[in-house]
This record gives sequence, structure tokens and C-alpha cells, in this order.
Amino acid sequence: MTDPGSTTSEAASPSGERPSAISPQRRRVVLGVGGGIAAYKACELLRRFTESGHDVTVVPTASALQFVGAATWAALSGKPVSDEVWDRVHEVPHVRIGQGADLVVVAPTTADLLAKAAHGLADDLLTNTLLTARCPVVLVPAMHTEMWEHPATRANVATLRERGVLVVEPAEGRLTGADTGKGRLPEPAEVFALCVDVLDRDGETGRDLVGRHVVVSAGGTREYLDPVRFLGNRSSGLQGYALARAAASRGAKVTLVAANTALADPAGVDVVRVETTEQLREAVLTAAASADAVVMAAAPADFRPTSRSEAKIKKAEDGSAPAIELEQNPDVLRELAGQRAHEGQVVVGFAAETGDATGSVLELARAKLARKGCDLLVVNDVSGGAVFGSPDNEAVILEADGAFVEVPRGSKGALAHAIWDRVGARWASV
Ligand code: CTP
Repeated sequence: MTDPGSTTSEAASPSGERPSAISPQRRRVVLGVGGGIAAYKACELLRRFTESGHDVTVVPTASALQFVGAATWAALSGKPVSDEVWDRVHEVPHVRIGQGADLVVVAPTTADLLAKAAHGLADDLLTNTLLTARCPVVLVPAMHTEMWEHPATRANVATLRERGVLVVEPAEGRLTGADTGKGRLPEPAEVFALCVDVLDRDGETGRDLVGRHVVVSAGGTREYLDPVRFLGNRSSGLQGYALARAAASRGAKVTLVAANTALADPAGVDVVRVETTEQLREAVLTAAASADAVVMAAAPADFRPTSRSEAKIKKAEDGSAPAIELEQNPDVLRELAGQRAHEGQVVVGFAAETGDATGSVLELARAKLARKGCDLLVVNDVSGGAVFGSPDNEAVILEADGAFVEVPRGSKGALAHAIWDRVGARWASV
């Protein structure tokens, strides 16, 4: 059984990337803060930027200052903070701040700010900055579900996305007060990881996945023997999460089917949690019905016990152990490839291979790709356990026609982007 996810290792940062993958350059970041209760979470986002060595100018709105005062932003950024265009007019801040930025991120972005940005209004320092910025712009909305779902907001989001602005999908969960739903600001660590990805790739593909829906599976499934015991594998899910994060930073709508992972939800990604291979199959096939690409980075268990005991299995007095009978699980990748939701849907598999007497790693991988019927197979050469446990990943991306791209050793994020590049090339060739 392959274990694609376990070729990724547990790394220190919340995104699963090595700290060195975080941009080593000092970049000029504008952190806009809208007037929502989630403004307090922007303090942590600010800290992450400054502690990574970036130069951050905070531009709150007047309403944001009702939630978190200018003194907090000034102390955390080490710079003066203003919400209006009439301070330090000789420095022409309403133009200069936006012009000089490498990234503008607005967190939280209120419904009001989305409307102003979509229509080009400029009645304070932040909205002026949004008009003058020529760098990537990331808007991280947070609001009540009703406001997010309102047709006016939907139209504003669509307009902004068409213009190349990365409008991050809000997370689901607890909102202000007792209600729950879609509209939460994603975790600041994940917003930061997304922004770093955008900064690192500035000038490359930009928002080239806008309008695409992609599905990624991650983690390892569990097959239960009884209510407390299961057969499982060591997959961490980091490579799948890196794929989801990379697609979100390029503007895709992303569904991540996560099996038994202990990782934070990536910002802007719809996460469906599953445990067993059958649940994973169900979730992936459902999401795949509207998807342009499906990447199976998960390690689904190939076998499951033929029966699951309702009660915890007790030890026998005579010291004997119960026999476990197994049956095969469905091969989700094969099923996906065999019944594509539409022509042009790209299906990607993963394979961990060692060469053997019957063939080299590449030969075995070519045979597997043909057997599975997928378009691309991401192949890890695990001869001698070379990749397992490493903080990096290196792979060959094999195409159905036998061509392949070697991705040199690097972060899982870098491999993720290389995979999306190949998926994009296939869409372009259809
Ligand atoms: N996969 C799947 N459903 C399964 C098992 C695996 O969709 N029940 C997918 C994985 O997500 C991965 C690819 O298939 O993308 C890995 O292929 P797999 O059949 O697991 O490889 P091996 O088990 O190594 O196959 P073999 O033992 O035949 O080499």
C-alpha cells in the first residue's frame, strides 16, 4: 500500500512548510484592517509578518479603530498609524502607501469594504490605498453569513475576483455572538501562509486558477475493527494540505477531503473531514462532480476488516488473539479516472515506488498510471526510504503519454505548485 502523504514530514510552521520556505526577503506589506470584531485577529497576523522580517504598514478604517486602537497597531508595527488621508499630507500617503507595496492584505474585509473596493470608492486611507496598489491584493472577508450570501456581496466578490483580486472564502464556525455559519476569518497563521505564498509567487502565475474548482484528498484513512481500534497508516496529510493551499493562493475554489489529519484548515479552503476509505470515496466523488481537477494525495487504506464489532473486542482468557479477516477497499483513483464528471477533468494520482526485478521506478510508475487511468502520476522514489520523513519532497510528475517533469528536492509547497502548473498545462491542451 502506498502512503503518499507520509512522504511529507511534520514541520515546525503551521503551514507545514519549513521556516526557510518563508520568504527570506523583507517585503513591504500593507495590512488593511476593516471594522469587524475579527480585527483583533489581525494583531496576530501583523506579528507574523513583522517577526518574519517584513516591513508592515497598518491602515485601519475608522470602524476598525473602534475595535482595536491605533496604539496597538503602532506598537506592533513600529510605525505611525492613521485611517485618514489628512495626516502627514506632505508625504501624500493616499498614493504613496499603495504604490510602494509588494502586497496589500485586508483582514478582516467587511461587506462595506468589499462594496467600496468593487466600485472604486476612496473615502479614507485604506480605500485610496486599494486604488493605487499595483501589487497582489488579498481580501480576507469576515462577516455574518447573511451579509456574505447577500446578492450585493456576491456580485462585489465576483467583480473583484474577475479583476485578479484574491478574495479568500471565509471559514465556517462560530461568529460574533452565539450564532455559527460561514463568515469567520480563517486562522491568522493560515492567512499568513497564504500571503507568503502569494508574495513568493508574485510575477509567476498570479491568480491563474480563478474560476476553477479543484478537489484534493489528504491524510490516511482508518478502518475500524471495533469502536476504539483501527488499521491506519502514517500519512500526515502535509502534501495534500500544501496542494490545497497552493490552489487557493492561485484563486481556485478548493475542496479538501481530509482523512484523520491534525492540521489547521488552510485559509479559503472548504474542508470535508472523513475517517474511512468508504467515507473518503463518497466525499471525493461528490465534490468531483463539479470539479475541474481531482488530486488524490491521500493514502486510503487498501484493505478493511470484513466486519466491524459493535462492542470493544475483549482479550481471550486463553491468551489467543482474534483473527482479522480483510477485504479490499474500492480504488478511488481508478473509479474517478474511469467515470470523469466531464471531459477535460484532470485526475492526478500519487505513487511511492521502489524499483524491483520487474522494472525501474519509472517503468513501474508508467504501468501504474496506465492501470489507474489517471492523467498525471506524482511519483516518489522511496528506494531505501529516501523520501520518508524528510522535510522536503522531490518527485517526478509523469504524464499519460510517457513524458515526465522532474521536480527537484524542495518544499511541499514548491511541489504543489509544480503539480498545478502541469494540471494547468493539461487544461490548456484540451
Ligand atoms: N488510492 C485510491 N484508493 C485506494 C488506494 C489508493 O484512490 N483504495 C490512490 C492514492 O490516493 C494514490 C494512488 O491511488 O493517489 C496510490 O496508488 P496505490 O494503488 O495505493 O498504490 P499501491 O498500493 O502502491 O499499489 P500497488 O501496491 O499495486 O503498487
